Amino acid sequence: MSNRLPLILANWKMNKNRSEIHEFLQAITGKLPLTNLLQVGVAAQSVYLEKMVDYVNHHQLPLDIFSENLFYVNQGSYTGETSPAALVDIGVKGSIIGHYERRKLFKESNGSVGLKVAASLKNGLLPLVAISEDTSTYDPTDIEMSPLTEIAISFAGIDKKWASKIVVAYEPAWAIGSDRTPTLKEIEHAAKVIRQSLTVIFGSAAANQIRIQYGGAVTPENAKAIFALPNIDGLLIGRSSLVADNFLRIIDDA
Ligand code: G3P
Repeated sequence: MSNRLPLILANWKMNKNRSEIHEFLQAITGKLPLTNLLQVGVAAQSVYLEKMVDYVNHHQLPLDIFSENLFYVNQGSYTGETSPAALVDIGVKGSIIGHYERRKLFKESNGSVGLKVAASLKNGLLPLVAISEDTSTYDPTDIEMSPLTEIAISFAGIDKKWASKIVVAYEPAWAIGSDRTPTLKEIEHAAKVIRQSLTVIFGSAAANQIRIQYGGAVTPENAKAIFALPNIDGLLIGRSSLVADNFLRIIDDA
């Protein structure tokens, strides 16, 4: 039995305006489990994060606010970027790093993911590193492929003392935004292979502390079974997290 704290994180991507966010937060107020056995969070567009943190603090919600990206430098001439220090300053808990959409649409490299992981840890933010695979490389019987390169580069040079702060989200690119997920067996196999690869980098004690989430077409219908897999420590949820009731159903099942 692992002592990894499961994390259910909503990834709203570039959805929801100010009033929709307020409605969502009102809808979940008083309905989140008060437990230290589960961590729940929402990642949203940077411009809304401070207001969200204020709402959460004011209503004492057991909810952590995450950003969807960040830069790896704290200050300077980097037009358009958001620093780890600025996120910490407004009370953000962590950041998604290297989501498939950022890698694909904004040409985010494994190297910059690695720098962002290091900068997050240095500044006290939880790095949630999303790793994926595209359809051309996907083979459920052989996952020793691109995600493992992503892992190796993302964590190069990171001290194992940070292991308990790291989250890896396994999101097959073809499942994101689709209505298809891998089978439970394939998800568990992928998570195991990912943990083996983390073991090579950090050693087994530290690798066993790292949380591995699954993401891609998670719904209230399939969440419970995926969440129950031994090597899966939580879920990263896109579309299903946009509706408060669906998000709460997934959390209840966890
Ligand atoms: O980060 C979560 C996401 O990429 C999965 O999206 O809509 O398939 O749950 P969705």
